[in-house]
Order: sequence, then structure tokens, then C-alpha cells
Amino acid sequence: MASDQTTNVQLQCMQQGGPFQIVHVPKPALAPDEVLIRQRVIAFNLLDVKQRDWGINIPYWPRVLGVEGAGVIEAVGASVRNLQPGDEVAGRHGSGAEESVLWGGAFQEYVAVPTHFVFKKPKNISLKEAASLPVGFVTAVCTIVGSLGIPLPFLPEVVPAEGRVPSSVLILGGSSVTGAAIIQLLRRAYPSLPILATSSVKHNARLTDLGATQLFDYKSSAVVADIKAASPGAAGIDVIIDCVSAGASQTDICDVLDLAASKRYAAVLTGVPVTVPEGVEHIVASAYNILHMKGGKELTPSLTKLVEEGTYKVPLPVRVVGHGLEELPRVLDEVKNVSGEKVVLTL
Ligand SMILES: NC(=O)c1ccc[n+]([C@@H]2O[C@H](COP(=O)([O-])OP(=O)(O)OC[C@H]3O[C@@H](n4cnc5c(N)ncnc54)[C@H](OP(=O)(O)O)[C@@H]3O)[C@@H](O)[C@H]2O)c1
Repeated sequence: MASDQTTNVQLQCMQQGGPFQIVHVPKPALAPDEVLIRQRVIAFNLLDVKQRDWGINIPYWPRVLGVEGAGVIEAVGASVRNLQPGDEVAGRHGSGAEESVLWGGAFQEYVAVPTHFVFKKPKNISLKEAASLPVGFVTAVCTIVGSLGIPLPFLPEVVPAEGRVPSSVLILGGSSVTGAAIIQLLRRAYPSLPILATSSVKHNARLTDLGATQLFDYKSSAVVADIKAASPGAAGIDVIIDCVSAGASQTDICDVLDLAASKRYAAVLTGVPVTVPEGVEHIVASAYNILHMKGGKELTPSLTKLVEEGTYKVPLPVRVVGHGLEELPRVLDEVKNVSGEKVVLTL
């Protein structure tokens, strides 16, 4: 179902829980700092399903869901200088100006996005791979720099409130999009930092390649003891980063912490609560903090250079699960079954 010169085709989620409906609407008007993207790829996130089913951060229905995608710029706002029609770009959608808040989600053919959430497709990756990057990368940087105050020297414009380099890190959910992004960013910034991570064994090779020092099967009954034994001097871990709310089921995971170190537990906001023992600092991490960080507006556009120079790799393989907005409601639930991969839909 294609749009004509003036109309846009949206897949609106009519109410919490669905159903979805294809709706024709006028193409969005552009704010001065926005670009209009004709989408070719929509990348799925678990948030899409949570928004459909739980209504997280949805003030009203119907709503266009979806938080990232890629395509070709059709028009640019009056103050845009660095992007032009015809550029292949990817971006993080669903945030920004009033119009974007209203209809800014990725599940539509045309989307208006502020330039600070857009990056030009790096020359060395495909448009599908570019679509898979922004949410994971931004969440990873917000966690590392914004929530934990760990500087990333190759992102000098993104400045932590206080610089605190950890002595060791444990990443729970190494094979999640966020976890794989965090592993490689920390490794690139700190070549000798011990980075331990949990994962299914089948993802060990990829995560080692991204920079993990040692990997632990999160389904093993000995996982806590094994991690503690493998920590530097078997003294325990300085900082835990929980990307998948693993602490909700592995409730003794904080036993791996070194009681003489910072005892920090950063949890990516997932909607699933995690409690930590008294004395452990519980830090919330979220991509929503991006615009509260110094240099946050430079973050997404910086992906082009980071990928082209090899500083940042596409963390996980990308799999196409469907084609066309009509097929989207049927394939959306695939995102619940991802295992060390990113799923996308083409348009
Ligand atoms: N607040 C924010 O800004 C923000 C941003 C992005 C994501 N999120 C949330 O963060 C969570 C992760 O998202 P994502 O896209 O990064 O993840 P994802 O790629 O969807 O995560 C799936 C992976 O997590 C692994 N996993 C699941 N449970 C695990 C456990 N207990 N221990 C270790 N690994 C486990 C799975 O491994 P196996 O297949 O090997 O089992 C699978 O590879 C989601 O809940 C998402 O909604 C929040």
C-alpha cells in the first residue's frame, strides 16, 4: 500500500493491546530542524511490544509505535544544513517536537525526525544494519556515560557529570542489543578493563570478538560463584550493568560485587523492577536521558564516523522478518524471541 505525493501511510495501533489499522494521513509538516524520511527499514525493539501490550509512555490512542528505522531523506526543514534530499539515513524515532510526539513512531512510510536523532548511513554497512543501530548505541552510551559517569574518549563531546572509570564490569545480558553495544564501547575505551558478561554459550564467540574478557552461562546454577571466582583477584566485581532485568530472577547476583569497591548496579529501564541489597547503589539507565546529557544532541549523528572508521561495529546480526506495513502486526512478536540478533521489517 503506497503513499502518493501528499499522503503518508501509517500503521496506527488503535488501542492498548491492538488491533493495528492502516490509515492514510497527510505527510507531516516539517519543523525547521527536522528531516522527512521515506522509510525503507523498520527495526523492532521489545519496547514496541511493551507499548502495544502495556501502554508504556503512551498518553493516548490511536498511536504510531516504533522507535527506529532507516530510509531516504525526501525533504529537509528550513534550518537543516548537514543533510539533504536523497541522503540515506537512519534514526531514532518517536521523540522530538509536538508533531513527532503525536505521530513520530517508526511504523509508517514517512516520518519527520529532528536531525539530532538522525545519522547518515555509514558507507561500510547496509541500510538494514544502519536501522538496527541507534537505540542500542544511544542506550549503551547513556548507561556508560550518563548513568555511570564513565568517559568514552572517542566521544569527547558527550561529557559525564563526573569521571569514574571502573576497575571491573559485569554485564548481564551480553547478547542483548544493549549488552553487545556496551561491551564493545567499553573495550574500545579501556583496552585492559576486565569485562565479564553473561550470555547463552552460543553467543560467546561473537561477544569475545566484541571485547568480552570472559563469558558465563546465565542458566548455570554456579553462575554467581563462577563470576566471583573469575573476578580480579577473586575479590569481586566493581560495577554490574544489567541490560535485561536479569537481577529480577537471579536475585543473588549482587553477591559478585567487591564490597571494597563502588558496589554500583546500573539497570537499563525495562519495566521489570529489580531490587538490590542494602548498601548497593541502584542506578537507573535509559536512552530517554540522551537530551539531558552534555553533548547528547551530537550522539546519534556521530554514528556515521564511528562506524566508518571502525570504532563501532554493528553489534549483532540483522534478520529480516517481514515486508510491508500490512505484515508488521503478524511479525512484531518475533522481537520477543530474539537471541543475539536484531530483527527488522523492510518497506
Ligand atoms: N529504557 C531504555 O531506554 C531502553 C532502551 C533499550 C532497551 N530497553 C529495554 O532493555 C531490555 C533489553 O533490550 P535489548 O533490545 O537490548 O535486548 P534484546 O536484544 O531484546 O535481548 C535479548 C537477549 O537477552 C538475552 N537474555 C535474556 N534474559 C537474559 C538473562 N536473564 N541473562 C542473560 N541474558 C539474557 C537473550 O539471550 P539468549 O537468547 O541467549 O537467552 C537474548 O539474546 C528490554 O527490556 C528493552 O525493552 C530499554
